[in-house]
Formats: sequence, C-alpha cells, structure tokens
Amino acid sequence: ARKIIIDTDPGQDDAVAILLALASPDEIDLIGITCVAGNVPLDLTTRNARIICELAERPDVPIYAGCDRPLGRALVTAEHVHGRTGLDGPDLPEPTIPLQDQHAVDFIIDTLRAHPADTVTLCPIGPLTNIATAFNKASDIIEKVQEIILMGGAYFEVGNITPTAEFNIYVDPDAADIVFSSGVSITVMPLDVTHKALVTRPRNDAFRALGTPVGTAVAQMSDFFERYDREKYGSAGAPLHDPCVTAYLIAPSLFSGRHVNVAVETTSELTMGMTVADWWGVTDRAPNALFIGDVDADGFFALLTERLARL
Ligand code: BDR
Ligand code: CA
Repeated sequence: ARKIIIDTDPGQDDAVAILLALASPDEIDLIGITCVAGNVPLDLTTRNARIICELAERPDVPIYAGCDRPLGRALVTAEHVHGRTGLDGPDLPEPTIPLQDQHAVDFIIDTLRAHPADTVTLCPIGPLTNIATAFNKASDIIEKVQEIILMGGAYFEVGNITPTAEFNIYVDPDAADIVFSSGVSITVMPLDVTHKALVTRPRNDAFRALGTPVGTAVAQMSDFFERYDREKYGSAGAPLHDPCVTAYLIAPSLFSGRHVNVAVETTSELTMGMTVADWWGVTDRAPNALFIGDVDADGFFALLTERLARL
C-alpha cells in the first residue's frame, strides 16, 4: 500500500476523502492526517478530522494541527458551503480521539526525512499552507516527496470562490505558487473534473442504503452539502471534490488528463489564485503537473459505495 499524508480542512467532501482512504488499506496506508485552516478555522478542521476517524473507528491514525492562517493573506472561510461547523448535516458525537502535540508542519518534515525518497505521497485537499510552510522550513524534504496529488484549481470551469479562482488555491495563492514551483511531480484534481463527480439523488440513496453509521453519515453530509450547489448552480448534486484525490490512488484509470504547465496568479486582485493551465501548450513553460480533466463518474461512485460499505 502506498504511504500517504492527507492534508485537509474538513469539510464534508474532505471527510468522504478520508473515509475512502481508511476503507482501502490494500492500496492506501494513511500514516497521518494534517489539518489546516480553510473551509472553517483550524480548531474546527481538527475537530472534524477527529470526528471522522472516530466514526470510522480508527483512533490509531494520528491527527495534527497545522497552520491557522495563510502565508500572507487573511483567512477566507466557506461556512456558506459547509455550514457553521464545516461538517454540518449528520449529528455526530464530539470526538474523544486526542490531537497530537507535534505541529503538522514538523510531522510532515520528520516523516519525509525518516522515510526513503519516493515512498511518501502528500495528498492536500485544502489550502496549501502546511505543505508550503514545510517546504520553506526544510527544503531538503522537497526531493524526497514521491508525488503530490491535490484537489485545487480550475481551468475551463474557472472559479467557485471568485469568477476565476477555486477555493483551495484562492485561500493561499502564495502557498500554491510555492508548491507548483517546487519541482515535485504533481497530479491536480481541478473543478473541471470534480464538477463531474456529482452526488445525484440515486447515488446518495446508494450511500444511505448501506445502512451503516458511515453510510448514513455520508448521505447526511451530501444532503447538506448539496443544497449550496443546487441552489447556486442548479447542479444535479454536490460535487465530491476531495474524494477524487483518494479515488485516484485506488483506481487511476478512472481519470484522464494532460501534462501541462500550471502557474498561480499571486498579485492581481481581480484574478488572485487563478490556476493558469497551459492546456494547449502555447507557452514554452515546461509541464509541471498532470492536470486531470475527466472522470468515469459511474465508476467513481461504484468504487466509493463499495469501499464505504467496508467501514
Ligand atoms: C474545495 O474547497 C473546499 O470547499 C472543498 O473541501 C474542496 O477542497 C473545492 O473548491
Ligand atoms: Ca477540502
């Protein structure tokens, strides 16, 4: 199984991404969860990560608190999408799993230093503040990262927090710029693909029909999460952004994309956080990322339902 660290700001879709990883021990060895401020402030994202591991009965997965604000800008949150707690929908108990004492950034640094090169993959599904801070603090770890598989950005689908920016990149564009310029091999799940992974009514009924605490909680999270996208975009269901990252680790053949150059806008207030993907190869900037554009959505939901049934 591939060793990964999930860097996250749960978030209902982050929660499903974590549950999918926990349900897939043959493919994924989740060695730690590092939390960052994003959808909601850090005290809530750490709480929500602990709630999810408790729901999955996995108190053995260590959970770390990381950066509580972006590198150079004020924190922007998304309660309008995720609710006041960030995990509105299901009524889950307050967690008893403790938070680790170590800072998330130091956990990332120590873990990469302790493992051979190319054996630990980073999976960021929130703003990239923790990853960029680790790279800034310990540049020797950059060449040890096997791969970064992240949810963030958009190209043809443009933005969901501003007209041109996706939330995770917009919240900390400076951090995103550091990551995209790092030279690490990156796979990106932008809105272009996540807006194809919609929890339609029948797909959510399949989660509910599992009849387990996990199936019920995921259905209730999707019910809540869905309201925003249905009312705002008239879409057929909630986009399961972040689980695209963990699904890719299990079944990469469900996804397709192109190796392109991706650069991040960090100065223009108008287009702050825009991911400029050279999809048509019109510049001489070298490709730095596999930019995913398509997913077999039925295959994705079949996989997700089958895996969640194991928890
Ligand atoms: C991303 O922003 C958050 O609201 C979601 O959890 C996802 O990571 C989508 O733009
Ligand atoms: Ca997220």
